[in-house]
Amino acid sequence: MLAIESSCDETACAILDADGRMLAEAVLSQSGHAEFGGVVPEIAARAHLAHLPDLVRQVLAEANLVAGDLGAVAASAGPGLIGGLIVGSGLGKGLALSLGVPFVPVNHIEAHALTARLPGLVPEGAEFPYLLLLVSGGHCQCVAVDGLGRYRRLGGTIDDAAGEAFDKVAKLLGLGWPGGPALERLALDGDPAAVPLPRPLLGRPGCDFSFSGLKTAVAQRLAALPAATPLRRRQAADLAAGFQAAVADVLADRVRHALAMMPEAGLLVVAGGVAANATLRARLATVAASHGVRFAAPPLRLCTDNAVMVGWTAIERLRAGAPDELLAPSRPRWPLQEMAAPLSGAQAAPE
Ligand code: KG4
Ligand code: ZN
Repeated sequence: MLAIESSCDETACAILDADGRMLAEAVLSQSGHAEFGGVVPEIAARAHLAHLPDLVRQVLAEANLVAGDLGAVAASAGPGLIGGLIVGSGLGKGLALSLGVPFVPVNHIEAHALTARLPGLVPEGAEFPYLLLLVSGGHCQCVAVDGLGRYRRLGGTIDDAAGEAFDKVAKLLGLGWPGGPALERLALDGDPAAVPLPRPLLGRPGCDFSFSGLKTAVAQRLAALPAATPLRRRQAADLAAGFQAAVADVLADRVRHALAMMPEAGLLVVAGGVAANATLRARLATVAASHGVRFAAPPLRLCTDNAVMVGWTAIERLRAGAPDELLAPSRPRWPLQEMAAPLSGAQAAPE
């Protein structure tokens, strides 16, 4: 299985064997966006186009294979930035067509959701059903993963995604982009209790999230500092630590509610770039333990965007009888709830 990921600003390829073991992997995090403070779709699409063919050659060589050895090709087909999706799917479809092998279009969110099921990743396995907390730059939701193609969105953000909030607050604090990792490093030197910050939606019924008020609160605390004083490192660290603690409190509370909404879940899985955050991981582990469910957080490289998760999802779908989908469209929007189990007959709803 050759898998391609190109839905945002990571250009990635992977080769997996039929059992889902990774034979080769390459991820290129595009560098051209930092000066704009966010992902520029057109730059992303052109960079995917420039780099994908070489990455495919690279993973084939690393796995000691030639294209003719491939048994299937998969690419993320949505949701994401349309230019990149078209580039990745176009290359994947072209290869599949020329090799006479199936092409599997993969839902990027489903791929994050199923990562925990990669063989050997979670010690006692990740059997359905489980609760997924997906926290990335573009997505923030609690999903009941009932089975392959069977997902229920229990709640999600009503404004910013968690990663987006990390990035925006990092920008306010003068850190680079993407801001999550830099903010986490700075927070190590701060006191999370030094600056009181709100915990939006904490304790409310359900498991929706809201982060935009928290970001505004940080901006107001910053504005209240004496004018013309450069933000001292100590103050910035306190704000970073306070913000991170507020996000962790809110996410832990929302996940507690989600677990109560899904009593059949025996496992809590966290995925997406923000899952790299150590404070958040520790809090979620505690929540899971207090609910008597297991906790799984994929290794960091599988939390952020990668092609291994795309390949694994395609393998799960092929095993369940998914048909060849050479004509599948690329879909900027593709909610998980529109997925269907391959054998139920209905694939993703057409555009
Ligand atoms: O899943 P991902 O790689 O891409 C999307 O699909 O969005 O997630 C990237 C997001 C960015 O917003 C980044 O700031 C955030 O994940 N992130 C973190 C950390 N590492 C990455 N946020 C908080 N703490 C981190 N250590
Ligand atoms: Zn992602």
